[in-house]
Amino acid sequence: MNEKLTQIKTQFTQQISQVSDLAVLEQLEIKYLGRKAGELTNVLRGLKDLSEAERREIGGQANELKKEIEQKINEVRQSLKGQAVGNEFLDITLPGVQTAEGHLHLMTQAISEIAEIFERIGFVRRRYPEVEWDWYAFEALNMPPNHPARDEWETFFIDKTPVGPKGQRILTPHTSSGQVREMERKKLPIRMINISTCYRRQIDASHAPMFHQFEGLLIDKDISIADLKGTLDYFAKQFFGPDRQARIRPFHFQFTEPSFEVDVTCGVCKGAGCKLCKSGWVEIGGAGMVHPNVLKAGGLDPKKYSGFAFGWGVERCYLMKAGLSIPDIRMLYQNDLRFLKQF
Ligand code: DAH
Repeated sequence: MNEKLTQIKTQFTQQISQVSDLAVLEQLEIKYLGRKAGELTNVLRGLKDLSEAERREIGGQANELKKEIEQKINEVRQSLKGQAVGNEFLDITLPGVQTAEGHLHLMTQAISEIAEIFERIGFVRRRYPEVEWDWYAFEALNMPPNHPARDEWETFFIDKTPVGPKGQRILTPHTSSGQVREMERKKLPIRMINISTCYRRQIDASHAPMFHQFEGLLIDKDISIADLKGTLDYFAKQFFGPDRQARIRPFHFQFTEPSFEVDVTCGVCKGAGCKLCKSGWVEIGGAGMVHPNVLKAGGLDPKKYSGFAFGWGVERCYLMKAGLSIPDIRMLYQNDLRFLKQF
């Protein structure tokens, strides 16, 4: 290597080994690489006075040394910066870095709220299988095979042919399938609130193919419609607020006798009629007194025990809750943060 370059290299190596703070490092950088009078810069600048052959040789060596020096300076700079953190001035008035905060999905929030409302009056939260046997979803609920009432449930079938004594395997189309499962536990009285995911082959502004229901079941001695009515009123007041009205209409379900349908005034139009509800009332689901055949299917004696049941959609109830106007139930599951962040 050229003598001058060798000298620069030796000197630099010795000096850099003694650098202990960033200010000194900066001076060293200027001393060797400074644009005006850096030692190495001077050598590079002087190349123009040399012969072609020398220029090529020394120029190559000088550039290589420049790279080495730059690299070493950067290394030392990084290590000095690391050490400096402990002594650095900390400005605690600077705004911090805001961490993104999420929250539970609104259906999860609704499910917890519904569960709590019923737990306060002694109901016990349950979840029964989403992949269910035909027996629990239909047959035990007084709907034998080929009964026309089954059509209403638009069921997804998993297996075409019966798989066992409990029939075909299906995706449960309603939480009523938990009724007989709960009776089989043989713990009376029963106060169940079964909240689960349900599936049906339906899709439009007010139906999603995957949705949630909550099913109440109360079985004891001497249970009457008055107990059912009291429970419905209690829930409506707690969940929807005192300004919403509810009504009960006579209806028909295979698994209850008598049966009712429960409506609440629509939260979007407050009863005037709109795209979502059409009539001003939104149906939240069915209710009734448990049919004797269902009690028998669950191994209970209908002469001794009676009970009521109701099964409502979580989505539907949530949409009707005070202050919410969501025109399409499917928005709940599109996972659009602009929508979800509002809750
Ligand atoms: N399972 C019914 C449905 O999905 C709703 C229902 C009606 C549940 C009446 C009940 C009931 O418990 O008594 O449409």
